[in-house]
Amino acid sequence: MAFLTLLFNQVLLFLLILTLCGILYKKVRKEAVLKHEAGKQACVHLCLGAGEMAQRLSRGVFFFFSFCHLYRKWIEHSKLKEINFKIVEFNPIVLKGKIRPDSSRPELLQPLNFVRFYLPLLIHQHEKVIYLDDDVIVQGDIQELYGTTLALGHAAAFSDDCDLPSAQDVDRLVGLQTTYMGYLDYRKKTIKDLGISPSTCSFNPGVIVANMTEWKHQRITKQLEKWMQKNVEENLYSSSLGGGVATSPMLIVFHGKYSTINPLWHIRHLGWNPDARYSEHFLQEAKLLHWNGRHKPWDFPSVHNDLWESWFVPDPAGIFKLNHNS
Ligand SMILES: *[C@@H]1O[C@H](CO)[C@@H](O)[C@H](O)[C@H]1NC(C)=O
Repeated sequence: MAFLTLLFNQVLLFLLILTLCGILYKKVRKEAVLKHEAGKQACVHLCLGAGEMAQRLSRGVFFFFSFCHLYRKWIEHSKLKEINFKIVEFNPIVLKGKIRPDSSRPELLQPLNFVRFYLPLLIHQHEKVIYLDDDVIVQGDIQELYGTTLALGHAAAFSDDCDLPSAQDVDRLVGLQTTYMGYLDYRKKTIKDLGISPSTCSFNPGVIVANMTEWKHQRITKQLEKWMQKNVEENLYSSSLGGGVATSPMLIVFHGKYSTINPLWHIRHLGWNPDARYSEHFLQEAKLLHWNGRHKPWDFPSVHNDLWESWFVPDPAGIFKLNHNS
C-alpha cells in the first residue's frame, strides 16, 4: 500500500489514448472526413484498451480520451470507473485544407488519425505523454514505457521499423514497408531535396512517448502542418502508403531526431496480413501489441482476436458486442 502511494506520488504517468473514431465504419464517405462525428465502435476499442490498462495500472495513470463524450456513461458505469480520466475534445477544423481527399484507404483520413500532431493543444499540464493508437493493447506495465529516455533535444520516441521480429516469430509479413521509400514519393523534387536516403528505416507513430516542452520548443505541430499542406499542393506521399497518411509527415519532421522505444513495447503488424501469425511464445513476451494494417481485431479477417477480446469491457447499455467471426 505504501508502495502504491509512493508510486502515486512520484510517478507522473500520463497516457493519451487515441481513438481513430470512424476507422471502423466500413464505408467512410469522403465528404464526411472533416465532420465531427463519433464512430460508435471506435470507442469500444478505445475503452477496451482503457479497461485493460486500468486493471494493470490502477492509480498512477491518468487517461486522456479524445472524442469519447458519448461514452462517458460507459466509463462511469463499468469497471472502467476505477480509472482517472479526462475527455479532451479535438476540433477537426484545424485540419481544414491540410488533408488530400484521395487516399486509397479513406478511413485513414479520419480527423482522429491526426490527434497525435496536436498533443500540446490537448494536454497542457503534463510534460511527458504517451500516445497510443486505438488498435493496441498493453500487456506490460506501462510505467516501463513511460520510463523511455528521450535524448536531449528529442521531442519524441518511436519504434524503428528495422526492429522487426525475426523470421521464426512470424512468417508471411511480405510487402511490409520499412523504409522512407514506402511513405514518400521520391520522384518528387521536394522529397528528393530533403536529402533523406530512401532506404532509411521508417518508424511507426502508433506508439509515441513525447516531451511536450521540447515539442512546443521545436514547433513540431507547425512543422507537421506545413508538410500536410505541402502534400495537398504537391502530392508528396507514396501511393502505396502502407502505414497511413499520418506517418509520412512525421517521418519528415522527426528524421534523425527521435529516440527509440524498446521493440517489445511495440510489437506491430498484427493487422498486416490475416495469414501471418506470431508465435504464442513471442506474443506472451510482448509488452504491447498493435494491429496496424487493414485487418483490425474487431473485423474479419484478422488474427489473434482472442488476445484482443479477452479485454472486452461490456458497456452498460449492451450496444457493443464481440463479433465472433473467426
Ligand atoms: C523535456 O524537455 C525539456 C527541454 O529540453 C527538458 O528540460 C526536460 O527535462 C524534458 N523532460 C523530460 C521529462 O524528459
